[in-house]
Amino acid sequence: MAGFDEPVQTWRDIPGWFQWRSGQEEAVEHFGSGDRFVEVGCYLGRSLCSLAEVARDHALDVAIIGVDTARGSGPEGRGGTDAHGPAVAHGGGTLAGLLHRNVLACGFADRIQLLLSDSVAAAALFADESLAWVHLDARHDYDSVRADIAAWLPKVRPGGWLSGDDYDEWQWPGVVQAVADSLDGADAWSKGQWRWLKPADR
Ligand SMILES: C[S@@+](CC[C@H](N)C(=O)[O-])C[C@H]1O[C@@H](n2cnc3c(N)ncnc32)[C@H](O)[C@@H]1O
Repeated sequence: MAGFDEPVQTWRDIPGWFQWRSGQEEAVEHFGSGDRFVEVGCYLGRSLCSLAEVARDHALDVAIIGVDTARGSGPEGRGGTDAHGPAVAHGGGTLAGLLHRNVLACGFADRIQLLLSDSVAAAALFADESLAWVHLDARHDYDSVRADIAAWLPKVRPGGWLSGDDYDEWQWPGVVQAVADSLDGADAWSKGQWRWLKPADR
Protein backbone atom coordinates (compact mmCIF):
# COMPACT_ATOMS: atom_id res chain seq x y z
CA MET A 1 0.00 0.00 0.00
CA ALA A 2 2.94 2.30 -0.65
CA GLY A 3 2.09 5.96 -0.95
CA PHE A 4 -1.14 6.19 1.01
CA ASP A 5 0.57 7.19 4.23
CA GLU A 6 2.86 9.78 2.66
CA PRO A 7 2.46 13.25 4.15
CA VAL A 8 -0.15 15.45 2.46
CA GLN A 9 -0.11 19.23 2.43
CA THR A 10 -2.09 20.11 -0.68
CA TRP A 11 -4.37 18.32 -3.14
CA ARG A 12 -1.34 17.82 -5.38
CA ASP A 13 0.03 15.30 -2.86
CA ILE A 14 -3.13 13.16 -3.02
CA PRO A 15 -3.35 10.23 -5.47
CA GLY A 16 -6.19 10.44 -8.03
CA TRP A 17 -7.16 11.18 -11.62
CA PHE A 18 -8.42 14.73 -11.31
CA GLN A 19 -8.04 16.97 -14.37
CA TRP A 20 -10.91 19.50 -14.31
CA ARG A 21 -9.22 22.28 -12.36
CA SER A 22 -10.17 24.74 -15.15
CA GLY A 23 -13.81 23.76 -14.57
CA GLN A 24 -13.49 24.46 -10.85
CA GLU A 25 -11.95 27.84 -11.62
CA GLU A 26 -14.86 28.62 -13.91
CA ALA A 27 -17.31 27.57 -11.19
CA VAL A 28 -15.93 29.91 -8.54
CA GLU A 29 -16.05 32.78 -11.05
CA HIS A 30 -19.62 31.92 -12.01
CA PHE A 31 -21.29 31.11 -8.70
CA GLY A 32 -21.53 33.19 -5.54
CA SER A 33 -21.08 32.89 -1.80
CA GLY A 34 -23.90 30.95 -0.20
CA ASP A 35 -24.09 28.47 -3.06
CA ARG A 36 -23.62 24.74 -2.52
CA PHE A 37 -21.43 22.40 -4.55
CA VAL A 38 -21.55 18.60 -4.41
CA GLU A 39 -18.90 16.24 -5.73
CA VAL A 40 -20.06 12.63 -6.04
CA GLY A 41 -17.11 10.23 -6.01
CA CYS A 42 -14.20 11.65 -4.05
CA TYR A 43 -11.77 8.72 -3.70
CA LEU A 44 -8.93 10.16 -1.58
CA GLY A 45 -9.97 13.80 -1.98
CA ARG A 46 -7.70 15.09 -4.74
CA SER A 47 -10.41 16.88 -6.74
CA LEU A 48 -12.40 17.80 -3.63
CA CYS A 49 -9.44 19.50 -1.93
CA SER A 50 -8.57 21.29 -5.16
CA LEU A 51 -12.13 22.66 -5.26
CA ALA A 52 -11.85 23.88 -1.67
CA GLU A 53 -8.51 25.52 -2.50
CA VAL A 54 -9.94 27.29 -5.56
CA ALA A 55 -12.92 28.53 -3.52
CA ARG A 56 -10.71 29.69 -0.64
CA ASP A 57 -8.33 31.52 -2.98
CA HIS A 58 -11.31 33.21 -4.58
CA ALA A 59 -12.69 34.23 -1.15
CA LEU A 60 -15.87 32.35 -2.02
CA ASP A 61 -17.91 31.12 0.93
CA VAL A 62 -19.59 28.07 -0.61
CA ALA A 63 -20.60 24.80 1.01
CA ILE A 64 -18.60 21.92 -0.49
CA ILE A 65 -20.04 18.46 0.08
CA GLY A 66 -18.22 15.29 -0.93
CA VAL A 67 -20.25 12.09 -1.34
CA ASP A 68 -18.59 8.67 -1.45
CA THR A 69 -19.38 5.17 -0.25
CA ALA A 70 -15.68 4.92 0.66
CA ARG A 71 -15.89 1.34 -0.61
CA GLY A 72 -14.44 1.94 -4.07
CA SER A 73 -16.05 1.32 -7.44
CA GLY A 74 -14.85 -2.28 -7.82
CA PRO A 75 -13.57 -3.59 -11.15
CA GLU A 76 -14.56 -1.36 -14.07
CA GLY A 77 -13.41 0.00 -17.40
CA ARG A 78 -11.87 -1.79 -20.37
CA GLY A 79 -9.38 -3.70 -18.25
CA GLY A 80 -11.77 -4.44 -15.39
CA THR A 81 -9.38 -2.64 -13.07
CA ASP A 82 -10.20 -2.26 -9.38
CA ALA A 83 -8.38 1.05 -9.14
CA HIS A 84 -9.58 1.89 -5.63
CA GLY A 85 -9.11 -1.60 -4.20
CA PRO A 86 -5.68 -0.99 -2.66
CA ALA A 87 -6.87 2.13 -0.81
CA VAL A 88 -9.96 0.29 0.45
CA ALA A 89 -7.83 -2.65 1.61
CA HIS A 90 -5.40 -0.24 3.29
CA GLY A 91 -8.26 0.94 5.51
CA GLY A 92 -9.59 -2.55 6.26
CA GLY A 93 -12.54 -2.25 3.87
CA THR A 94 -12.97 1.52 3.67
CA LEU A 95 -11.02 4.44 2.27
CA ALA A 96 -12.89 6.86 4.54
CA GLY A 97 -9.96 7.24 6.93
CA LEU A 98 -7.56 8.28 4.18
CA LEU A 99 -10.11 10.62 2.59
CA HIS A 100 -10.84 12.36 5.89
CA ARG A 101 -7.16 12.49 6.82
CA ASN A 102 -6.41 14.19 3.51
CA VAL A 103 -9.17 16.77 3.93
CA LEU A 104 -7.81 17.61 7.38
CA ALA A 105 -4.19 17.68 6.17
CA CYS A 106 -5.08 20.17 3.42
CA GLY A 107 -6.64 22.44 6.05
CA PHE A 108 -10.22 22.05 4.84
CA ALA A 109 -11.88 20.49 7.88
CA ASP A 110 -14.27 23.45 8.05
CA ARG A 111 -14.74 23.95 4.30
CA ILE A 112 -15.60 20.41 3.22
CA GLN A 113 -18.37 18.19 4.53
CA LEU A 114 -18.06 14.47 3.81
CA LEU A 115 -21.12 12.32 3.36
CA LEU A 116 -20.36 8.59 3.45
CA SER A 117 -23.19 7.32 1.34
CA ASP A 118 -24.27 5.81 -1.90
CA SER A 119 -24.83 8.52 -4.51
CA VAL A 120 -28.55 7.96 -5.07
CA ALA A 121 -29.29 7.68 -1.35
CA ALA A 122 -27.34 10.89 -0.69
CA ALA A 123 -29.25 12.81 -3.36
CA ALA A 124 -32.48 12.06 -1.53
CA LEU A 125 -31.17 14.07 1.45
CA PHE A 126 -31.14 17.32 -0.53
CA ALA A 127 -34.11 19.50 -1.43
CA ASP A 128 -34.93 19.89 -5.09
CA GLU A 129 -33.24 22.89 -6.77
CA SER A 130 -30.98 23.46 -3.74
CA LEU A 131 -27.54 22.93 -5.33
CA ALA A 132 -25.57 25.19 -7.66
CA TRP A 133 -23.20 22.56 -9.02
CA VAL A 134 -23.16 18.78 -8.85
CA HIS A 135 -20.17 16.97 -10.34
CA LEU A 136 -20.44 13.20 -10.89
CA ASP A 137 -17.37 10.99 -10.68
CA ALA A 138 -18.56 7.74 -9.07
CA ARG A 139 -19.01 4.46 -11.01
CA HIS A 140 -18.69 4.88 -14.76
CA ASP A 141 -20.92 2.12 -16.16
CA TYR A 142 -24.06 3.10 -18.10
CA ASP A 143 -26.63 2.15 -15.44
CA SER A 144 -24.75 3.89 -12.62
CA VAL A 145 -24.32 7.13 -14.54
CA ARG A 146 -27.99 7.05 -15.61
CA ALA A 147 -29.03 6.55 -11.98
CA ASP A 148 -26.72 9.30 -10.75
CA ILE A 149 -28.02 11.78 -13.32
CA ALA A 150 -31.64 10.91 -12.54
CA ALA A 151 -31.06 11.31 -8.81
CA TRP A 152 -29.10 14.59 -8.89
CA LEU A 153 -30.71 16.43 -11.82
CA PRO A 154 -33.73 17.63 -9.78
CA LYS A 155 -31.39 18.85 -7.03
CA VAL A 156 -29.65 21.37 -9.31
CA ARG A 157 -31.12 24.84 -9.12
CA PRO A 158 -32.14 26.84 -12.20
CA GLY A 159 -28.96 28.31 -13.67
CA GLY A 160 -26.90 25.57 -12.02
CA TRP A 161 -24.62 22.94 -13.50
CA LEU A 162 -24.68 19.15 -13.61
CA SER A 163 -21.40 17.74 -14.88
CA GLY A 164 -19.20 14.68 -14.74
CA ASP A 165 -15.83 13.14 -15.35
CA ASP A 166 -14.49 10.71 -17.95
CA TYR A 167 -16.43 11.85 -20.99
CA ASP A 168 -14.43 9.55 -23.20
CA GLU A 169 -16.07 7.39 -25.86
CA TRP A 170 -13.25 4.86 -26.05
CA GLN A 171 -12.40 4.43 -22.39
CA TRP A 172 -15.82 5.04 -20.81
CA PRO A 173 -18.55 4.52 -23.46
CA GLY A 174 -21.17 4.04 -20.72
CA VAL A 175 -20.62 7.58 -19.48
CA VAL A 176 -21.01 9.09 -22.96
CA GLN A 177 -24.12 7.00 -23.73
CA ALA A 178 -25.77 7.69 -20.36
CA VAL A 179 -25.26 11.44 -20.78
CA ALA A 180 -26.63 11.31 -24.35
CA ASP A 181 -29.70 9.32 -23.23
CA SER A 182 -30.40 11.50 -20.18
CA LEU A 183 -29.66 15.11 -21.04
CA ASP A 184 -30.48 17.29 -24.01
CA GLY A 185 -27.72 19.74 -24.73
CA ALA A 186 -24.92 18.36 -22.55
CA ASP A 187 -21.52 19.24 -23.98
CA ALA A 188 -17.87 18.35 -23.60
CA TRP A 189 -16.30 20.64 -21.02
CA SER A 190 -12.97 21.40 -19.33
CA LYS A 191 -10.59 18.42 -19.75
CA GLY A 192 -12.45 15.18 -20.45
CA GLN A 193 -15.63 16.33 -18.71
CA TRP A 194 -19.26 16.77 -19.71
CA ARG A 195 -21.56 19.51 -18.47
CA TRP A 196 -25.26 20.33 -18.69
CA LEU A 197 -26.58 23.79 -17.83
CA LYS A 198 -30.00 23.93 -16.18
CA PRO A 199 -31.98 26.74 -17.80
CA ALA A 200 -32.20 29.79 -15.55
CA ASP A 201 -35.86 30.56 -16.28
CA ARG A 202 -38.58 28.10 -16.99
C1 LIG B 1 -13.00 7.82 -9.87
S1 LIG B 1 -13.08 7.82 -8.13
C2 LIG B 1 -13.23 9.53 -7.73
C3 LIG B 1 -11.96 10.29 -8.01
C4 LIG B 1 -11.92 11.70 -7.47
N1 LIG B 1 -13.04 12.50 -7.94
C5 LIG B 1 -10.63 12.36 -7.87
O1 LIG B 1 -10.58 12.87 -9.00
O2 LIG B 1 -9.69 12.36 -7.09
C6 LIG B 1 -14.67 7.15 -7.87
C7 LIG B 1 -15.15 7.10 -6.42
O3 LIG B 1 -16.56 6.85 -6.46
C8 LIG B 1 -16.93 6.10 -5.33
N2 LIG B 1 -18.21 5.44 -5.64
C9 LIG B 1 -18.43 4.40 -6.47
N3 LIG B 1 -19.73 4.10 -6.53
C10 LIG B 1 -20.36 4.99 -5.72
C11 LIG B 1 -21.72 5.22 -5.38
N4 LIG B 1 -22.71 4.47 -5.87
N5 LIG B 1 -22.01 6.22 -4.53
C12 LIG B 1 -21.01 7.00 -4.01
N6 LIG B 1 -19.70 6.84 -4.31
C13 LIG B 1 -19.38 5.85 -5.16
C14 LIG B 1 -15.79 5.17 -5.09
O4 LIG B 1 -15.74 4.75 -3.74
C15 LIG B 1 -14.57 6.02 -5.52
O5 LIG B 1 -13.96 6.61 -4.39
